[in-house]
Amino acid sequence: MKLQDKVAIVTGSTSGMGRAIAKKFAQEGAKVIVTGRNEERAKECVDDIKAAGGEADYVIVDTSNTDDCKVLLDKTLEKYGTVDILVNNAGMLSMSPVTDVSQEEWEKVFKVNVTAALYLTQLVAPVMKGKGKGVIVNTASVASYAGHHGFAAYVSSKHAIAGLTKSMAWELGPEIRANAIAPGLIHTAMVDSIGGLDALQFMIDACPMKRAGQPEDIANVALFLASDDSSFIDGQVIKVDGGFEA
Ligand SMILES: NC(=O)c1ccc[n+]([C@@H]2O[C@H](COP(=O)([O-])OP(=O)(O)OC[C@H]3O[C@@H](n4cnc5c(N)ncnc54)[C@H](OP(=O)(O)O)[C@@H]3O)[C@@H](O)[C@H]2O)c1
Repeated sequence: MKLQDKVAIVTGSTSGMGRAIAKKFAQEGAKVIVTGRNEERAKECVDDIKAAGGEADYVIVDTSNTDDCKVLLDKTLEKYGTVDILVNNAGMLSMSPVTDVSQEEWEKVFKVNVTAALYLTQLVAPVMKGKGKGVIVNTASVASYAGHHGFAAYVSSKHAIAGLTKSMAWELGPEIRANAIAPGLIHTAMVDSIGGLDALQFMIDACPMKRAGQPEDIANVALFLASDDSSFIDGQVIKVDGGFEA
Protein backbone atom coordinates (compact mmCIF):
# COMPACT_ATOMS: atom_id res chain seq x y z
CA MET A 1 0.00 0.00 0.00
CA LYS A 2 1.48 3.30 -1.11
CA LEU A 3 -0.32 5.62 1.34
CA GLN A 4 -0.68 3.41 4.41
CA ASP A 5 -2.08 5.46 7.34
CA LYS A 6 -1.50 8.79 5.58
CA VAL A 7 -4.24 11.36 6.16
CA ALA A 8 -5.42 13.03 2.95
CA ILE A 9 -7.79 15.92 2.32
CA VAL A 10 -9.18 15.81 -1.23
CA THR A 11 -11.22 18.89 -2.14
CA GLY A 12 -13.95 18.50 -4.72
CA SER A 13 -14.24 14.79 -3.95
CA THR A 14 -18.03 14.69 -4.13
CA SER A 15 -17.71 14.26 -7.90
CA GLY A 16 -15.52 13.51 -10.89
CA MET A 17 -11.76 13.38 -10.53
CA GLY A 18 -11.76 14.23 -6.83
CA ARG A 19 -14.04 11.30 -6.06
CA ALA A 20 -11.81 8.96 -8.08
CA ILE A 21 -8.73 10.32 -6.24
CA ALA A 22 -10.38 9.85 -2.83
CA LYS A 23 -11.26 6.24 -3.67
CA LYS A 24 -7.81 5.48 -5.06
CA PHE A 25 -6.07 6.96 -2.00
CA ALA A 26 -8.31 4.95 0.34
CA GLN A 27 -7.55 1.75 -1.60
CA GLU A 28 -3.88 2.50 -0.95
CA GLY A 29 -4.41 2.76 2.80
CA ALA A 30 -5.00 6.49 3.31
CA LYS A 31 -7.58 7.92 5.69
CA VAL A 32 -9.45 10.32 3.45
CA ILE A 33 -11.45 13.45 4.15
CA VAL A 34 -14.01 13.79 1.36
CA THR A 35 -15.23 17.34 0.88
CA GLY A 36 -17.46 19.57 -1.23
CA ARG A 37 -20.79 21.35 -0.79
CA ASN A 38 -23.12 18.46 -1.63
CA GLU A 39 -23.72 16.25 1.39
CA GLU A 40 -25.56 13.48 -0.44
CA ARG A 41 -22.68 12.93 -2.87
CA ALA A 42 -20.08 13.28 -0.10
CA LYS A 43 -21.81 10.59 1.95
CA GLU A 44 -22.09 8.36 -1.11
CA CYS A 45 -18.33 8.61 -1.71
CA VAL A 46 -17.55 7.82 1.93
CA ASP A 47 -19.99 4.89 1.91
CA ASP A 48 -18.33 3.50 -1.26
CA ILE A 49 -14.88 3.79 0.35
CA LYS A 50 -16.06 2.08 3.53
CA ALA A 51 -17.84 -0.66 1.58
CA ALA A 52 -14.51 -1.40 -0.11
CA GLY A 53 -12.80 -1.71 3.29
CA GLY A 54 -11.25 1.80 3.36
CA GLU A 55 -11.39 4.63 5.88
CA ALA A 56 -12.97 8.02 5.17
CA ASP A 57 -15.19 10.73 6.56
CA TYR A 58 -16.70 13.82 5.01
CA VAL A 59 -16.78 17.54 5.82
CA ILE A 60 -19.22 19.79 3.98
CA VAL A 61 -17.64 23.12 3.08
CA ASP A 62 -17.64 25.81 0.43
CA THR A 63 -13.93 26.26 -0.21
CA SER A 64 -14.50 29.72 -1.69
CA ASN A 65 -15.09 30.75 1.93
CA THR A 66 -11.95 31.07 4.06
CA ASP A 67 -13.81 30.33 7.32
CA ASP A 68 -14.99 27.06 5.76
CA CYS A 69 -11.39 26.18 4.84
CA LYS A 70 -10.45 26.59 8.50
CA VAL A 71 -13.38 24.33 9.48
CA LEU A 72 -12.10 21.73 6.99
CA LEU A 73 -8.66 21.61 8.61
CA ASP A 74 -10.06 21.70 12.17
CA LYS A 75 -12.43 18.80 11.48
CA THR A 76 -9.66 16.81 9.79
CA LEU A 77 -7.40 17.25 12.82
CA GLU A 78 -10.30 16.43 15.16
CA LYS A 79 -11.05 13.21 13.26
CA TYR A 80 -7.59 11.92 12.29
CA GLY A 81 -5.14 14.07 14.31
CA THR A 82 -2.93 15.16 11.41
CA VAL A 83 -2.74 15.78 7.68
CA ASP A 84 -0.11 14.40 5.28
CA ILE A 85 -1.57 15.08 1.83
CA LEU A 86 -3.67 17.95 0.48
CA VAL A 87 -5.24 17.65 -2.97
CA ASN A 88 -6.56 21.04 -4.11
CA ASN A 89 -8.93 19.72 -6.76
CA ALA A 90 -12.23 21.62 -6.32
CA GLY A 91 -12.85 23.81 -9.31
CA MET A 92 -15.51 25.65 -11.26
CA LEU A 93 -15.87 26.42 -14.93
CA SER A 94 -16.70 29.86 -16.27
CA MET A 95 -17.68 30.53 -19.85
CA SER A 96 -17.52 34.30 -20.29
CA PRO A 97 -15.20 36.13 -22.66
CA VAL A 98 -12.78 38.88 -21.63
CA THR A 99 -15.20 41.60 -22.74
CA ASP A 100 -18.16 40.27 -20.74
CA VAL A 101 -16.91 38.54 -17.61
CA SER A 102 -18.32 40.28 -14.55
CA GLN A 103 -16.15 41.20 -11.59
CA GLU A 104 -18.33 38.94 -9.44
CA GLU A 105 -17.81 35.91 -11.71
CA TRP A 106 -14.08 36.62 -12.04
CA GLU A 107 -13.65 36.81 -8.27
CA LYS A 108 -15.71 33.69 -7.61
CA VAL A 109 -13.68 31.65 -10.12
CA PHE A 110 -10.42 32.83 -8.58
CA LYS A 111 -11.68 32.09 -5.06
CA VAL A 112 -12.63 28.49 -5.94
CA ASN A 113 -9.81 27.67 -8.38
CA VAL A 114 -6.86 29.52 -6.84
CA THR A 115 -7.44 31.26 -3.49
CA ALA A 116 -8.85 28.16 -1.80
CA ALA A 117 -5.70 26.24 -2.76
CA LEU A 118 -3.53 29.04 -1.36
CA TYR A 119 -5.47 29.33 1.88
CA LEU A 120 -5.76 25.59 2.53
CA THR A 121 -2.04 25.26 1.88
CA GLN A 122 -1.32 28.04 4.38
CA LEU A 123 -3.38 26.10 6.91
CA VAL A 124 -1.84 22.65 6.38
CA ALA A 125 1.78 23.75 5.83
CA PRO A 126 2.62 24.25 9.54
CA VAL A 127 1.28 20.77 10.34
CA MET A 128 3.31 19.19 7.52
CA LYS A 129 6.44 21.21 8.32
CA GLY A 130 6.14 20.11 11.95
CA LYS A 131 6.13 16.47 10.80
CA GLY A 132 9.02 17.09 8.42
CA LYS A 133 7.01 15.79 5.45
CA GLY A 134 3.94 16.58 3.39
CA VAL A 135 2.58 16.62 -0.14
CA ILE A 136 0.38 19.08 -2.03
CA VAL A 137 -1.23 18.14 -5.35
CA ASN A 138 -3.07 20.90 -7.21
CA THR A 139 -5.40 20.57 -10.19
CA ALA A 140 -4.33 22.77 -13.07
CA SER A 141 -5.54 22.15 -16.65
CA VAL A 142 -4.54 22.19 -20.28
CA ALA A 143 -6.00 25.70 -19.88
CA SER A 144 -2.86 26.45 -17.81
CA TYR A 145 -0.88 26.50 -21.07
CA ALA A 146 -3.07 28.10 -23.72
CA GLY A 147 -5.94 30.52 -24.15
CA HIS A 148 -9.28 29.80 -25.74
CA HIS A 149 -12.26 31.91 -26.76
CA GLY A 150 -14.86 32.40 -24.03
CA PHE A 151 -13.11 31.13 -20.91
CA ALA A 152 -11.29 34.27 -19.66
CA ALA A 153 -11.58 33.71 -15.90
CA TYR A 154 -11.12 29.94 -16.11
CA VAL A 155 -8.00 30.10 -18.30
CA SER A 156 -6.54 32.87 -16.11
CA SER A 157 -7.24 30.95 -12.91
CA LYS A 158 -5.64 27.78 -14.30
CA HIS A 159 -2.52 29.73 -15.37
CA ALA A 160 -2.46 31.12 -11.81
CA ILE A 161 -2.66 27.73 -10.10
CA ALA A 162 0.28 26.52 -12.21
CA GLY A 163 2.34 29.50 -11.02
CA LEU A 164 1.18 29.06 -7.45
CA THR A 165 2.30 25.41 -7.55
CA LYS A 166 5.83 26.49 -8.47
CA SER A 167 5.88 29.09 -5.67
CA MET A 168 4.65 26.46 -3.22
CA ALA A 169 7.48 24.12 -4.19
CA TRP A 170 10.15 26.79 -3.72
CA GLU A 171 8.79 28.13 -0.46
CA LEU A 172 7.53 24.99 1.30
CA GLY A 173 10.44 22.68 0.56
CA PRO A 174 12.37 20.73 1.49
CA GLU A 175 9.74 19.19 3.78
CA ILE A 176 6.73 19.67 1.51
CA ARG A 177 6.59 18.75 -2.18
CA ALA A 178 4.05 20.55 -4.37
CA ASN A 179 3.06 19.54 -7.89
CA ALA A 180 0.03 19.93 -10.13
CA ILE A 181 -1.81 17.75 -12.60
CA ALA A 182 -2.96 19.41 -15.82
CA PRO A 183 -5.83 17.27 -17.11
CA GLY A 184 -6.99 17.40 -20.69
CA LEU A 185 -10.59 16.53 -21.48
CA ILE A 186 -11.82 14.23 -18.72
CA HIS A 187 -15.38 12.92 -18.74
CA THR A 188 -16.95 14.32 -15.57
CA ALA A 189 -20.03 16.29 -14.50
CA MET A 190 -18.18 19.49 -15.41
CA VAL A 191 -17.96 18.33 -19.03
CA ASP A 192 -21.58 17.12 -19.02
CA SER A 193 -22.65 20.58 -17.78
CA ILE A 194 -21.50 22.09 -21.09
CA GLY A 195 -22.98 19.54 -23.47
CA GLY A 196 -20.90 16.45 -22.81
CA LEU A 197 -18.27 14.86 -25.01
CA ASP A 198 -20.19 15.63 -28.24
CA ALA A 199 -19.86 19.37 -27.59
CA LEU A 200 -16.13 18.94 -26.99
CA GLN A 201 -15.35 16.63 -29.91
CA PHE A 202 -12.78 19.20 -31.10
CA MET A 203 -10.71 18.34 -28.03
CA ILE A 204 -10.87 14.63 -28.82
CA ASP A 205 -9.89 15.37 -32.44
CA ALA A 206 -6.88 17.37 -31.17
CA CYS A 207 -5.65 14.43 -29.16
CA PRO A 208 -3.58 11.54 -30.61
CA MET A 209 -5.32 9.10 -28.28
CA LYS A 210 -8.71 10.08 -29.81
CA ARG A 211 -10.61 9.74 -26.59
CA ALA A 212 -11.53 11.67 -23.46
CA GLY A 213 -9.84 10.67 -20.23
CA GLN A 214 -11.62 9.06 -17.31
CA PRO A 215 -11.37 10.30 -13.69
CA GLU A 216 -9.28 7.19 -12.90
CA ASP A 217 -6.62 8.37 -15.41
CA ILE A 218 -6.15 11.38 -13.14
CA ALA A 219 -6.43 9.41 -9.88
CA ASN A 220 -3.51 7.19 -10.96
CA VAL A 221 -1.26 10.22 -11.42
CA ALA A 222 -2.49 11.83 -8.20
CA LEU A 223 -1.48 8.65 -6.37
CA PHE A 224 1.96 8.78 -7.98
CA LEU A 225 2.42 12.43 -6.96
CA ALA A 226 1.12 11.86 -3.42
CA SER A 227 3.30 8.82 -2.79
CA ASP A 228 7.04 8.34 -2.36
CA ASP A 229 7.16 7.02 -5.94
CA SER A 230 7.55 10.68 -6.94
CA SER A 231 9.91 11.62 -4.09
CA PHE A 232 12.21 13.77 -6.31
CA ILE A 233 9.46 15.47 -8.33
CA ASP A 234 8.68 18.99 -7.13
CA GLY A 235 7.19 22.16 -8.61
CA GLN A 236 5.98 20.39 -11.76
CA VAL A 237 2.75 20.76 -13.69
CA ILE A 238 2.20 17.38 -15.30
CA LYS A 239 -0.06 17.11 -18.33
CA VAL A 240 -2.41 14.13 -18.31
CA ASP A 241 -4.19 14.85 -21.55
CA GLY A 242 -3.68 11.99 -24.01
CA GLY A 243 -1.25 14.17 -25.97
CA PHE A 244 -3.72 17.03 -26.57
CA GLU A 245 -2.37 19.90 -28.68
CA ALA A 246 -4.37 23.16 -28.47
N1 LIG B 1 -13.21 17.68 -16.59
C1 LIG B 1 -12.25 18.22 -17.30
O1 LIG B 1 -12.16 18.01 -18.54
C2 LIG B 1 -11.19 19.08 -16.65
C3 LIG B 1 -10.06 19.44 -17.38
C4 LIG B 1 -9.05 20.17 -16.78
C5 LIG B 1 -9.16 20.52 -15.45
N2 LIG B 1 -10.28 20.20 -14.74
C6 LIG B 1 -10.31 20.56 -13.32
O2 LIG B 1 -10.43 19.37 -12.55
C7 LIG B 1 -11.02 19.67 -11.27
C8 LIG B 1 -12.13 18.70 -10.97
O3 LIG B 1 -13.17 18.89 -11.93
P1 LIG B 1 -14.12 17.73 -12.45
O4 LIG B 1 -14.00 17.72 -13.92
O5 LIG B 1 -13.89 16.50 -11.67
O6 LIG B 1 -15.53 18.41 -12.16
P2 LIG B 1 -16.78 18.01 -11.26
O7 LIG B 1 -17.14 16.58 -11.42
O8 LIG B 1 -17.79 19.06 -11.56
O9 LIG B 1 -16.22 18.22 -9.78
C9 LIG B 1 -15.97 19.50 -9.26
C10 LIG B 1 -15.81 19.35 -7.77
O10 LIG B 1 -15.47 20.63 -7.21
C11 LIG B 1 -16.31 20.86 -6.09
N3 LIG B 1 -16.54 22.28 -5.90
C12 LIG B 1 -16.84 23.21 -6.86
N4 LIG B 1 -17.02 24.41 -6.28
C13 LIG B 1 -16.83 24.23 -4.95
C14 LIG B 1 -16.87 25.10 -3.84
N5 LIG B 1 -17.17 26.40 -3.94
N6 LIG B 1 -16.62 24.59 -2.60
C15 LIG B 1 -16.33 23.28 -2.45
N7 LIG B 1 -16.26 22.41 -3.47
C16 LIG B 1 -16.52 22.90 -4.70
C17 LIG B 1 -17.60 20.12 -6.41
O11 LIG B 1 -18.25 19.77 -5.19
P3 LIG B 1 -19.76 20.21 -4.79
O12 LIG B 1 -20.56 20.23 -6.04
O13 LIG B 1 -20.16 19.14 -3.81
O14 LIG B 1 -19.58 21.52 -4.15
C18 LIG B 1 -17.08 18.87 -7.09
O15 LIG B 1 -16.76 17.87 -6.13
C19 LIG B 1 -11.41 21.14 -11.36
O16 LIG B 1 -10.43 21.94 -10.75
C20 LIG B 1 -11.46 21.41 -12.86
O17 LIG B 1 -11.27 22.77 -13.16
C21 LIG B 1 -11.31 19.49 -15.30
